[in-house]
Amino acid sequence: MCGIVGIIGKQQAELVILQGLERLEYRGYDSAGLYVANRTSSHLIKAQGRIKNLAEKVTPEVTGTIGIGHTRWATHGKPSEANAHPHTSASGRLVLVHNGVIENFDELHQTYLADHQFKGQTDTEIVVHLIEELMNQEDLTTEAAFQKVLGMIQGSYAFALVDQQNPDVLYVAKNKSPLLIGLGDGFNVVCSDAMAMIDQTHEFVEIADGEMVIVTPDKITIYDRQGTPVFRPSYEAQLDLTDIEKGTYPYYMLKEVDEQPAVMRRLVQEYRNEDGSIAIEASLLKQIANSDRIYIVACGTSNNAGWAAKKLFESLTQLPVEIHLSSEFGYNMPLLSEKPFFIYLSQSGETADSRQVLVKTNEMGYPALTITNVAGSTLSREADHTLLLYAGPEIAVASTKAYTAQIGVMAILATALGRQKGISAASDFDVFYELGLVATGMESLISEKERFSELTAEYLTTTRNAFYIGRGNDYYVSMEAALKLKEISYIQAEGFAAGELKHGTIALIEEGTPVIGIITEEVMGSHTRGNLKEVESRGAHTLVMVSENLAKVGDQILLPHVHPFLTSLIAVLPTQLLAYFATLQRGYDVDKPRNLAKSVTVE
Ligand code: F6R
Repeated sequence: MCGIVGIIGKQQAELVILQGLERLEYRGYDSAGLYVANRTSSHLIKAQGRIKNLAEKVTPEVTGTIGIGHTRWATHGKPSEANAHPHTSASGRLVLVHNGVIENFDELHQTYLADHQFKGQTDTEIVVHLIEELMNQEDLTTEAAFQKVLGMIQGSYAFALVDQQNPDVLYVAKNKSPLLIGLGDGFNVVCSDAMAMIDQTHEFVEIADGEMVIVTPDKITIYDRQGTPVFRPSYEAQLDLTDIEKGTYPYYMLKEVDEQPAVMRRLVQEYRNEDGSIAIEASLLKQIANSDRIYIVACGTSNNAGWAAKKLFESLTQLPVEIHLSSEFGYNMPLLSEKPFFIYLSQSGETADSRQVLVKTNEMGYPALTITNVAGSTLSREADHTLLLYAGPEIAVASTKAYTAQIGVMAILATALGRQKGISAASDFDVFYELGLVATGMESLISEKERFSELTAEYLTTTRNAFYIGRGNDYYVSMEAALKLKEISYIQAEGFAAGELKHGTIALIEEGTPVIGIITEEVMGSHTRGNLKEVESRGAHTLVMVSENLAKVGDQILLPHVHPFLTSLIAVLPTQLLAYFATLQRGYDVDKPRNLAKSVTVE
């Protein structure tokens, strides 16, 4: 969701900006723009739609040594060229890109800029006008006016600002929206995500909320809210170009589905000590053991991973677990237990809905753990503890390997905690061995891709709607299966508790409606089979996905047998492939579904 790149001190800045924007495409956007300049010329170019539309407008004379670029995901004002960033001040002297939402933009407009004309409807344009207004009215330098405006803004922002009269400086600031500085040799860069600039540098510096940074080709100076210089060491980004390129795959999603067995094995490698014990810090286990209830707070697929991990966590630790949607929890908090412990599940570690809850629970003094794929992300920095997913960058908008990695990490954490509490289910559970079996099972499903393509053609390619049903863990996997299918193939899909269908929703079953039953547990599974018969007799086109030990003649997808705690890890994989093939066969872009953003940095 909205991406920023910038560079100063390098010839052909436009090429670096375009490549950086392409690397940020995965975040989701609906328009893009760039500004490049040198001492003699400057160019501002915008385009609606994909980066390639922008690239087509970048003719050979569009070149410079300083540049900023932006991908916009519309919040204030529809997707259009006028609303695309960069935005300019009234005289055109200042050029600004912004990620985030300025909550008091209306108030700033009325109070300071009532007589200004704007080109679009965005909250960003007001900011760049206001900086120039203060420079003119109060005779402030660009830096001082920028700093002053930062103090007037309410909301979230990552900004990169250029003053055309001084193309040797890039002004940067951040609050609640991600932004990093990258250090080069004779040049420096800014970006929302290290991935965007990994071709330029591996050395990055974090910016904390409220800070402003003055970036020149060979120096960066960070200032805190009070204007005091801050020293912050750089770090090496552990990213490899092969991690972020598609290689021979047609789509990132397929690559990421295929990577899941390797991710399961990497979790074993990262979390197993040489003596076979679990490598999780004792202070974290102690803090969770002292709590009386776990609250898992997350959005979308990460929330579904929370549900998929609930039963195993409760069984292994004997601690009750509640799962909540971040967007609901913060503003509609339930009555909490006496000693709650919060777990934030977030692939990106940047999701604004989850972060607003973390800020609140931190203020309330409750301990928190973030389980994330991105080391150093906002949620990771702000929680007391972090456990990493080690899944490698997830670039397709539809999350796959992060979902399975989240369940894997929850299983490892629950086992460590349960063993510490002396719970026999945890002592008896060889989590690393079982995750190894999961990896092998996943590989055998992946090797049957063609079969999933055929089943998709038979069941999903032309349908308007579809249902996944199951009970217990299979219901939770159904929720994720339906989300995956609907978000990329645009088939209206629902994940339903199999037994609940007859209490209303069965009215939607028509001749040919696909209903996919997930069965990994014997007793509940026999009830799900009953529910499949009910819909079949009303015309549904049913498909059974079942653990191989429970299979009956005619069942279409057999799931390799794994430990009952870990069945979700196996059952979800065919549903990811069905969603993938349904999207391909319906002719849509698998990796970049409409309206969606990968990293959702606004509430
Ligand atoms: C769906 C998907 C989203 C994310 C959600 C939370 O495929 O990826 O539903 O799971 O936006 O994102 P994170 O996990 O980054 O907090």
